[in-house]
Amino acid sequence: MSTNHKSSHSQWSSKIGFLMAAVGSAVGLGSIWKFPYMTGDSGGSAFVIVFIISIALIGFPVLVTEWLIGRRGQSNPAASFRKAAVANNTSPAWSLLGYFGILAAFMILSFYSVIGGWSLNYTLKAGINAFGGLNADATGKIFETMLANPTEMTLWHTAFMGLTALIVAGGVSAGIEKASKIMMPALAFILLFIVGYNAINMDFAKGAEFLFKFDLQRMQEVGVGKVLMAALGHAFFCLSLGMAIMVSYGSYLKQDVDLLATARTVIIWDIIFSLAAGLAIFPILFSNHLDPAAGPGLVFVTLPIAFGQMSLGVVVGTLFFLLLTFAALTSSISILEPIVEFLEEKTPMSRKICTLVGAVATWAVGVLALLSFNKLSDFAVFTIHKNGKDIPQGIFDALDYTSSKIMLPLIGLGTIILIGWFINQESVKRELGLDGMKWTIWQIVVKFVAPIGIIAVFLTELLG
Ligand code: PHE
Repeated sequence: MSTNHKSSHSQWSSKIGFLMAAVGSAVGLGSIWKFPYMTGDSGGSAFVIVFIISIALIGFPVLVTEWLIGRRGQSNPAASFRKAAVANNTSPAWSLLGYFGILAAFMILSFYSVIGGWSLNYTLKAGINAFGGLNADATGKIFETMLANPTEMTLWHTAFMGLTALIVAGGVSAGIEKASKIMMPALAFILLFIVGYNAINMDFAKGAEFLFKFDLQRMQEVGVGKVLMAALGHAFFCLSLGMAIMVSYGSYLKQDVDLLATARTVIIWDIIFSLAAGLAIFPILFSNHLDPAAGPGLVFVTLPIAFGQMSLGVVVGTLFFLLLTFAALTSSISILEPIVEFLEEKTPMSRKICTLVGAVATWAVGVLALLSFNKLSDFAVFTIHKNGKDIPQGIFDALDYTSSKIMLPLIGLGTIILIGWFINQESVKRELGLDGMKWTIWQIVVKFVAPIGIIAVFLTELLG
C-alpha cells in the first residue's frame, strides 16, 4: 500500500448513513415534480403498480449491479468498471461505462444546479410573501422575469453549487453522509407537516383520489404502451442510475452490507417520498381550484398561486420550497461525488481542490445552460423530432436530453449486460446470497428482461 495521503479509500461510517445518502440521491426533483403528476395523470394506483413492476424489473437489478461493481472496485467508477471486466477476462474497454457515467453526471449536475438555484430563490420569495394575493398571470410573470434575468439566476445557481461543493468537500462520511443524516429527516418532517396541514385544511380526499384512484380507463386513454415506457424511463432516472453515482456510492460500501435488502429499502423509501409529495401538492391545488401539471410549471407557477391565497401560505410555501431545495441538494451532492472521486484518484490534488475544480467546471456549463432561457434563447444545439414535431433543443434542453434520454439508458444497458453475460455468475450468486428460485429469477431478469426493457425505452424515446 502506498503512503500517499489518499491511499485508503473512504467508507460510509454506518449503514443507516449510507441508506440516507442513497435515498437522498434518489429523492430529488424527479420525485417531487414529475412522479406525482405522472401518477395522477396516468391511472393513479394502476400506474403505481406499473411503476413498481418497472422498478422491480429494471431499476432494482441495475441499482444492485452498480453497487456491486463499485464495492468490488473500491475505486472511481471508471476504474471499478475496468477492474470488474479485467477480473473476468473481458476487455478493459468496459471502463467506458464509467467514463460516460461520469460525463453524464457532469452534464446533469450543470443544469440540475440551475434548478436548485431556482428552488433556493423561491424559498426566499415565499418567505417574504412575494406571492401574496397573486393570480396565475402574476406568478407566471415572476417566473418569466427570473428566467429572463441571467444575473439573478447565476447568483442563485452559484449559491446552490456552492452549498453542494461545501458538503462534498467535507468527504464521504463527514460531508455527504452527515449532511444526508440531517437533510433527509428534515425533508421527511417537512413533508409530513405539509401533508398533515393538507389533511386538516385542504380537500385531502380529492387530492388523494387524483393520486390513488385505480383508473385503468385513464391509462388506456393515455396509451398503455406510452405509460409503460414512461414508467420504465422514470424507474431509471429516479434511482439515479446510469451516471456513475451508485457505482461511486458502492465503492464506499463495506462487505457486510446486504445489497438486495438495501436496494429494496431505498426503492420503498423513494416511492413513499414520491407519493407523499403528491399528497403535499394535489390537495393544495384542488382546494384552490387549480389544475395540476408536470414539471417546473407546477412548482414554480401553479403552486405559488395557492401559497399566495391560502391561510398560512407563507409558512407552507416557504417549507415547500425548502423541501424542494433539500431534495435537490441531497441529489446534487450525489451527482458531484463520482466526478470528485475520479479527480481525486487521477490527480495529486486534495479532495477539497478536486471538489472545487469539479464544481467550478460544472458551474460554468450551468451558466451556459441558464443563458439558454435568455441571451442564447435562439441558439439550438440540435433539433429532435417528437410526435411529428420538430423541437429545437437549447443548451439546457440539450444537456438534459443527451444525458437522461440517451446516455443513461445506454450506460444502464451496458451495465446490466456486463453483469449478466460477462461476470462470473457463481461469484455474483455468492455475493448476493441468492439461490434456488430467486437466483433463477435474477438471471432471467438480468440477462433478458432488463436489457430488452431498456432497449425498448431507449428506442421509444429516440423514435417516438
Ligand atoms: N433521482 C433524482 C430525482 O428523482 C434525480 C437525479 C437524477 C439525481 C440524476 C441524481 C442524478 O430527481
